[in-house]
Amino acid sequence: MPDALGPWPLDALLADTAQYCPGLRVEYVPSIDSTNSELMRRARAGSADPVLLVAGHQTAGRGRLGRTWVSQTQGHALTFSLGLALEPRDWSGLSLAVGLSVARSLHPELRLKWPNDLWYAGRKLAGILIETVQGPAQRYAVIGIGVNIDEPHAAGLSVPPAWLRELLPRFDAPAALACLVGPLLRDIRLFEHQGLAPFLPGFRARDLLHGREVVLSNGASGTAMGIDSGGGLLVHTPAGMKTITSAEVSVRAIDHGVGPPGTEA
Ligand code: BTN
Repeated sequence: MPDALGPWPLDALLADTAQYCPGLRVEYVPSIDSTNSELMRRARAGSADPVLLVAGHQTAGRGRLGRTWVSQTQGHALTFSLGLALEPRDWSGLSLAVGLSVARSLHPELRLKWPNDLWYAGRKLAGILIETVQGPAQRYAVIGIGVNIDEPHAAGLSVPPAWLRELLPRFDAPAALACLVGPLLRDIRLFEHQGLAPFLPGFRARDLLHGREVVLSNGASGTAMGIDSGGGLLVHTPAGMKTITSAEVSVRAIDHGVGPPGTEA
């Protein structure tokens, strides 16, 4: 079961989040299979409580589209999941709003690679995995975020990694969590009430793919033309403009400024 929050800034986190998520419980575990998996298990067992679950280390971290989030040693990455009941009118674009919120909190030089990766200098710094469970009254969202803090030494990464200490040498995982959680909850509530519209200009300003040639995992290719009002990726293809939704495909840029040829996002 969860430990006490040890070196993590429990009191500060609760103070920062109280107005957006009263009753939020903050838990720290030194090691777990996956913070997303744990909150999904609890939600499927009927828990709808708001929880922030932070792990020192994950043994079976998960990424989007069935991929693995490669485990780092303790403290090398910030890995946490936020579970809470949400009632947005339209869920599409939540991952974009979350990515933008995290990027804004961490550093002005971070870019967003649709739908929800944070990149720095042509490499991936952070990823987001959002899953939901339908409860009796509301849908419960589990929003998982992994941020590389130190240089990952894990083998088998599908894209070249970036890490936060390249930009902020004095930051550690608790400091990163402390600076992003309050704004994240504020932005999730903003999304719940106003949808993606308030986030569109910010996403567009950090859109890594805009104007680049991209290849989709369904085989199509074209030029990324930004996002539409629902958060779909607009791709100009020989067959016309296509709107890509995140559930369908992954996308890789074929421009060396984004990632080397053959890497997957
Ligand atoms: C991706 O890049 O495809 C998403 C990666 C999401 C990783 C985070 S780490 C905390 C949470 N627990 C998981 O198992 N995954 C997310």
